[in-house]
Parts: sequence; structure tokens; C-alpha cells
Amino acid sequence: MKKPRIIFCLILIGSFLLILEILSRAQTTPVEKSRIIINADLGRETISPYIYGHFSEHLGRCIYGGFWVGENSSIPNVRGIRKDVVEALRKIKIPVLRWPGGCFADTYHWKAGVGPKEKRPSMINTHWGGVVENNHFGTHEFLDLCEQLGCEPYICGNVGSGTVQEMAEWIEYMTFVGQSPMADWRRQNGREKPWRIKFFGVGNESWGCGGNMRSEYYADVYRRYRSYIRNFSGNRLYVIACGPYSDNYYWTEILMREAGRLMNGLSLHYYTVPGGWANRGSATKFGEEKWFDTMDRALKIEEYIKRHKAIMDRYDPEKRVGLIVDEWGTWYQVEPGTNPSFLYQQNTLRDALVAGLTLNIFNNHCDRVKMANLAQTINVLQAVLLTQDEKMILTPTYHVFDLYQVHQKATLLPLELTAPDYEFEGKKIPALSASASQDEEGRIHLSLCNLNPRQEIPLICEIRGKAISEIKGRILTASKMNEHNTFEEPERITPVAFKGARIEGQKIFIRVPAKSVLVVEIN
Ligand code: AHR
Repeated sequence: MKKPRIIFCLILIGSFLLILEILSRAQTTPVEKSRIIINADLGRETISPYIYGHFSEHLGRCIYGGFWVGENSSIPNVRGIRKDVVEALRKIKIPVLRWPGGCFADTYHWKAGVGPKEKRPSMINTHWGGVVENNHFGTHEFLDLCEQLGCEPYICGNVGSGTVQEMAEWIEYMTFVGQSPMADWRRQNGREKPWRIKFFGVGNESWGCGGNMRSEYYADVYRRYRSYIRNFSGNRLYVIACGPYSDNYYWTEILMREAGRLMNGLSLHYYTVPGGWANRGSATKFGEEKWFDTMDRALKIEEYIKRHKAIMDRYDPEKRVGLIVDEWGTWYQVEPGTNPSFLYQQNTLRDALVAGLTLNIFNNHCDRVKMANLAQTINVLQAVLLTQDEKMILTPTYHVFDLYQVHQKATLLPLELTAPDYEFEGKKIPALSASASQDEEGRIHLSLCNLNPRQEIPLICEIRGKAISEIKGRILTASKMNEHNTFEEPERITPVAFKGARIEGQKIFIRVPAKSVLVVEIN
């Protein structure tokens, strides 16, 4: 009787031990694969706050209905500029705003946009729907907006259809302190003091909508326009040459070779277009195939940045010239029933992931990337705000800029990342994107994006070079990949406190939920 009982007990114990072994393996395997080491004492580079910049073009409802409603509107405004918009953008510490385009910039004649509004001539906005532009939002209104926002203006000058004289006079108008034809005209138009203008772009997409130029030709045109861009009255302009789109390395090579010493920045444009330009998908109706494609395409920007950097490093080893990613973001079909030329699209959790991973890439390349401008702030492409008459909502992308504002002006902390792949139908991309920084008070911030919409990532993060004792964080996620805010339900997706992290010694254990953007603060 006793023998079979003993055998039974041994089998039971054996099975129990086997189950324990299987369980512990199941737990350790992914943990071993997902690891971050942050060297808190090895930070050298400062993350330029301008990486968190935005872009506003006279396109669709970005300016009119977005920023600008006019002084007589019933929508609360200060001198015609929406109060709700200014308040929302101040909260995310918008550092810089690019204007007036985009393609529109190379059709814009600034003199039509100053002086009494009733006398300003109209023009046709030939790039964006052929609508009539009444020029009510011009230089004074834009610079008033920047003052209300507390951000730097970044003005893009007209090279495609404007003259050297026109560009030179615009700078004189805005920045000259003494008496001169342009400064006097500015005073007549109501502004005594000159403005301080920091960033000035010499044309937009000069290889395309800005004049269809060849790189060799534009390099010479740039040199010519650049010669008449003057620093008046102590104002120092950071002058940005038009750079390439995505992987046009030839353009960068020629521009750096022929004009590198005459520029402070070279731009780069890249849009994430799931399905490609001819086959763009819906902003809100998509499955995992499009989700994966979107992440895959968004990640490509890192390769482009690395290769453009390599060219710039050859001509400018001191890294004097900044890489200025002054247009980036997602580009889908427009919302059904809206004007196809107005580029109005919804914004979901998918866009939040694109924003999070792209900003991580910019942070990690902040030795060269000195500014970036998401396209576009309100009602156009990957907007942070959407408006409908008097209503305004914050998009998931807005919330990412909110979570990530802690990186502005902080010191980038080098990190080593080992993470699993996110696999879909035989294709693979890294599942985790990360960047870390330390602010002036010594707080470490780690931003993480889990691109996998199905699996959480258990992560061990080790901090070296600084003792740690406390962690807290905020997370943006949702049960559905396409969750988004609407005018009826504006808070369907917003950040919440994150409870999935704990500290043990110098190690932090974090469970990064599927399809999430997470920022933790480590003290
Ligand atoms: O952001 C929309 C358009 O995209 C810009 O006007 C142009 O520069 C780019 O092609």
C-alpha cells in the first residue's frame, strides 16, 4: 500500500518542479531579451527644445479656423487669435512655429499681408484647393501669435516666385530698429519695436513645389539669396537652406559641398505614408497590416538621418550646421466628405506611436538634429489640435508632445537597448523604441514606445552612474489601435498615471503595455 503512495508523491513533486521550471523560463526569456542600460553620468549632448517644434501653413483650416478666427468672431480670441489654441499649445511648451509654408511659402508675397486688412489684396492659394486667400493673417498676425505662444518664429522665405529684394526687405521690415523705408512702414502699420526673428528658411522644397530646381542650381540660388539676408540691429538669424526629401543623399552632398559654409541649417522632409503615395489608407479604418506598415515606414527616418548625418559630418565635422527636419508626420486619405486639398485627417493611437518613436529618434540624434516641425499644428495632416467652429480637441499626438516635453533642453543620456522584434506576416521591426534624458534638476526621463499592438514587453532597465529610489510615470494607450478623440467624446484617449514599474536597487522592472507610449520619471 505504501510504495504506490510514495511513487505517486514523487511523481507529483517531479511534475510540480517541472511546471516551476517551465514557468520560470517563460518569465525569464522575454525579460532577458528586453533590457535597457542607461548611463546617467555619460550625457554630453543637449536635446534642442526646437526638436519639439510645429509647422503652420496657409493650407485648409490650419490658419483660418485653426489659429485665426478674426477679431470679430464669437469664438474667444485675442486680436483674432483663438484663446483655446494658444492655451493648449503653451501647455506643451511649443518652442518654435514655422510659417507660412510649405509649398504656400514660395507663392507668398509678404507685402500683400501687411497694413489695413481691408486694403490687403487677395491671392489664389494655387497649391491648396485654389481657394482665395484674403491675406488677413500676415506678418503682424503671425508674430503676434508667436508672442502669445511664447515661441520662436521660423519664417520661410519665397525663393520660387519671389525676388531677392523682396526677401531682403521682409527681413528689414521685421528686424531693423532705426529709420529705413521698411522699418518706417512697419511703424506706420502699428509696430514700433522690431521683432526678434531667430529662424529663416530660404525656400521650401525647392526641388519640387518650390521651383523644381536641380541641387546644383539651387545651391547657387541659395548662395545668392543668402548674401542679402542681413543681421540688423543685433538680431542674429539662423539661416536654413532647403534640404532633401527622405533618401535624396545627392541633394545633401551638393548643398553641403557648394553652400555648407553659408548655412546654419539644412532641412529634411519625410512623411510616413502607409501604403505609399498612390495608395494611402484611412486615418481611422485600418487593421494590423497597416499598423505594421505605418511603424515600419516611420522608423525609416532613422536611416535617412544617419546617412544625411554621415555626409554632413564629412563637410562639417564640428557639427556647426544643424539638420532641421522641418516637415514630418503621417499622411493619410482625408476624412470622408472633406476637401481633398485641405488634408484634414483624424489622429489615433497609431499617430501617437509614430510621434513617440520619431521624437525618440530625434532625441537620440540631437548632436545633429537641431529642430523638427511636425506637419501641421491644427486641422492638417498629423495635427495636435482639431477644431470645429468653437470646439477644439486634443489629439493623441498632442498628448505625446505633452508627455515628451520633459526632454526639451535636457541632456541626452546614452542608452543601450536590447529588445525583441515585432513580427507580422514574416516581416520584423524592433518592438521597442526608447530615449532618455536628464533635466537640470537631475531627474531622469525615459520615454518608451511599444510598437507591438498585441504583446506587452517586460523590461529591465538598469541605471548606472546615479543612485535611484523613486519612479513614476504617465502612459498613453487604449484597447483599440484606432482609438481617437472626437468632438462628441474628446477624452476617449488621454494619458493616465502608470503603475507598472518598480525599483529594486539600481534596476527598474517595467511592464510596457502593448501599443503604448510611456514616459517614466526616475529619481
Ligand atoms: O505639409 C504639406 C506639404 O507637404 C507642404 O506644403 C510641402 O512642403 C510638403 O510637400
